[in-house]
Amino acid sequence: MCGIICYIGNQNTVPILIEGLKRLEYRGYDSAGLAAINSENTGSLYLKSVGKVAELEKKVKKDNIYCDYGIAHTRWATHGKPTEINAHPHTDCTGKLFLVHNGIIENYESLKNELIKNGHKFISDTDTEVLAHLIEDNLEDNFEEAVRKALSMVEGTFGIAVVHKDFPRKIIVARRGSPIIIGIGDNEYIAASDINAFIRYTNKVIYLNDDEMALLSDNNITITDLDLKEIMKEPETIDWEYSEDEKAGFKHFMLKEIFEQPKTVENAIRGRVIDGEGISKLGGLEPVLDRMLNLKRLTFVSCGTSFYAGLYGKYLFEMLTDLDVDVDYASEFRYRNLKLSHQDGVVAISQSGETADTLAALREAKRKGALVLGLVNVVGSTIAKETDAGVYCHAGPEIGVASTKIFVSQCVILNLIALLLGRMRGLSIFEGITLIKEIKKLPGYINTVLEKSNAIREVAQKYLPYENFLYIGRHLNFPIAMEGALKLKEISYVHAEGYPAGEMKHGPISLIDEKFPTVAVATNGFTYEKMVSNIQEIKARNGKVIAVATEGNKEIGNIVDDVIYVPETIDILQPLVNVIPLQLFAYYFADFKGCDIDKPRNLAKSVTVE
Ligand code: M6R
Repeated sequence: MCGIICYIGNQNTVPILIEGLKRLEYRGYDSAGLAAINSENTGSLYLKSVGKVAELEKKVKKDNIYCDYGIAHTRWATHGKPTEINAHPHTDCTGKLFLVHNGIIENYESLKNELIKNGHKFISDTDTEVLAHLIEDNLEDNFEEAVRKALSMVEGTFGIAVVHKDFPRKIIVARRGSPIIIGIGDNEYIAASDINAFIRYTNKVIYLNDDEMALLSDNNITITDLDLKEIMKEPETIDWEYSEDEKAGFKHFMLKEIFEQPKTVENAIRGRVIDGEGISKLGGLEPVLDRMLNLKRLTFVSCGTSFYAGLYGKYLFEMLTDLDVDVDYASEFRYRNLKLSHQDGVVAISQSGETADTLAALREAKRKGALVLGLVNVVGSTIAKETDAGVYCHAGPEIGVASTKIFVSQCVILNLIALLLGRMRGLSIFEGITLIKEIKKLPGYINTVLEKSNAIREVAQKYLPYENFLYIGRHLNFPIAMEGALKLKEISYVHAEGYPAGEMKHGPISLIDEKFPTVAVATNGFTYEKMVSNIQEIKARNGKVIAVATEGNKEIGNIVDDVIYVPETIDILQPLVNVIPLQLFAYYFADFKGCDIDKPRNLAKSVTVE
């Protein structure tokens, strides 16, 4: 969704802003803009464009003035269409103030009406423009005070950056519900809504919390609350690395991230298992271990792919622990009238750590007294900060909008949490040791599947003419069927439906004919025979079937149209091997169709609106 980048220092600002915007592109957006200022003569550059950042870049001319600070934005339209006028930065009646904003100003209509009565002229359909005029309305001779007053009048969420030509060499950033991270460089500050925008320049960061603002100026940063009371914060060092060749030779980030998965698994388990004792050691959960021992019920809440990780977690925890386990879409959980107590644990699963619904769900759970845990990739993200305790994926940035490596990472870490809880509550040391041994073999199994990528590519090519797909699986492989279908639909725009295989007879089977193929996750395990029966039912109706099956299974090749063989592991971990061919199938299918795989239409990497 929307992205913010701003810079103040000694370098020419516009190229830094453009590069930052490009690094925010993966989040999804439909227009972009920047405002940069030369503090010597207060000359400025104010550019906007619809479409890609490359369009904005075209507007930057070689003879454009040198600017030494500025702000920029990628917009994902909420209020008003994606037009140049609606693109950020927005300005006030004087044209001296420039402001970019992530989030939603909920009371913008009433504020706008008041401002119009006071003589302000609006040109856009956005909620953001209200904020620019509101600051102008409150501005006497103190810029910080005007921003503070304006922010105290708005309801909703914001991450903002604002500059004013009359107050040179000052950028004010502030947040409520929408991230702002300040990068500390050598005599320069570069703040953004996402670390990826500036990781090339610095890995020393300060995270703003809700209702905090910061004044970035020459070699100085002042952080305050919204009453301008100063807050002292030390920079943190983050371990994400910057690489020039970001795609490492792969055509898309998604493909690179699929191929990173053996490493992702290693990173997820590094230092987190005690082999001889068959137990995991998760530092992030240690402060709440006593409470975890007393839990009766655990509920996973998340969205999209992270929801399917939670669904896998439900089956997994039922197998390894004595807890009652539940899973819910965060967007539904938050509105349910659940009876939660201190014996409830709620695990918020999120790659970005910023998903608005997941955040709202965890706040609701907290309100009702549950222990709230996080399973998050982005360090320092809002969900990571608001949970009582949690575990990081340590999977590095995931740039492809379609989540792949984080799904596998989340599932591996769910195994570690289940192992920890299970071993504290009755799981035998033998079961613990067996699980750890197999988890350690996962990178090898995943590599074996990745080596088959050419064969999977051929299967994808063969099925290109089809426009509808059914994905089926049972028990632990049901979430994998759902995830496989999500991958295909989100990047190729082809209809794909995931279903528990047993439910097929209760409706979807009526769709089956020679034009409606099924992808069946049918590896060995206690539901295998039942899967074969479902496949036979599809074949009896002329449906084509692609099966994901266990290496060495000779029978299935005689029943289905195409088989993708995968190595065998224990039931619990098999889904983490099975998901790999489904990711590759979706990737190649979309690539053959020429889709914009890393930035699929209408989607955003981090969904920060509800
Ligand atoms: O950052 P989160 O894990 O909270 O994001 C949740 C979903 O928005 C995300 O998984 C989405 O469904 C992806 N596009 C799936 O590939």
